[in-house]
Amino acid sequence: MIKKCLFPAAGYGTRFLPATKSMPKEMMPVVNKPLIEYGVDEAIEAGLTGMCVVTGRGKNTLIDHFDKNYELEHQINGTNKEELLGDIRRIMDSAHFTYIRQREMRGLGHAILTGKELIGDAPFAVVLADDLCVNEEGDGVLAQMVALYKQFRCSIVAVQEVPKEDIHKYGVISGEMIKDDIFRVDDMVEKPEPGTEPSNLAIIGRYILTPDIFDIIENTKPGKGGEIQITDALLQQAKSGCVLAYKFKGRRFDCGSVEGYIEATNYCYQNLYKKDEQKMELDKHATAKTS
Ligand code: G1P
Repeated sequence: MIKKCLFPAAGYGTRFLPATKSMPKEMMPVVNKPLIEYGVDEAIEAGLTGMCVVTGRGKNTLIDHFDKNYELEHQINGTNKEELLGDIRRIMDSAHFTYIRQREMRGLGHAILTGKELIGDAPFAVVLADDLCVNEEGDGVLAQMVALYKQFRCSIVAVQEVPKEDIHKYGVISGEMIKDDIFRVDDMVEKPEPGTEPSNLAIIGRYILTPDIFDIIENTKPGKGGEIQITDALLQQAKSGCVLAYKFKGRRFDCGSVEGYIEATNYCYQNLYKKDEQKMELDKHATAKTS
């Protein structure tokens, strides 16, 4: 079964310079949590316990975030500030983290291949942390994809419909719909030139991959932008076997762009943070009453 999730997190985050000059983009806060923590939450919700992070130079704060901070914990021990660490403590209790450094940036396919030693020979999930996904109506996007994997046992990419003017920013698929919202991929193009896109279905940063993808990536030549693209490797896999595209339920924010990041911040503040705050208040009152 799927137990591990790979987080390619070695990129520079140039769209957020100068904020990302010395801070990893995955550590940009959306309200009070760094972006990557939303992805880790989603993976835990999907039943995954092994978080495998592909990092790069200058990403040490990301590693520290998922570790104990004895000095801070000693300082706030027994104060009402302690509850603010509740979520991250729960994460550290339910998942373990392993890291590997990508020495050169040679594309998403190369980043995924770098994670091979951490993943081993089993199907795994991939989360691109700058795509923040939420689904308040039910299961998170990864949980939906894991359920689908159990049924189909092949690689799956999450897709969403994107307006024509934006489609060139994504990997784009085409395929036959085999069931509601599920397509069998027959073509896939990384960032197509305007007018050549095979459909309006864009790949977003959630994947389930079967481990044969590593050999395929090793034999994938550099594609768009001179980089080794996971999209090209997946097309190979689709041709020789099966790759599904899944139009997921929920919303996705492109936190790699300033607009998407602001939108996510507003959404998370209104819909997640405020509700959590209200719940914490109610819990406090309930405990005060019973004690
Ligand atoms: C990557 C993938 C692309 C995908 C996108 C989703 O591109 O290469 O296929 O559509 O993530 O966010 P990037 O945004 O890293 O350029």
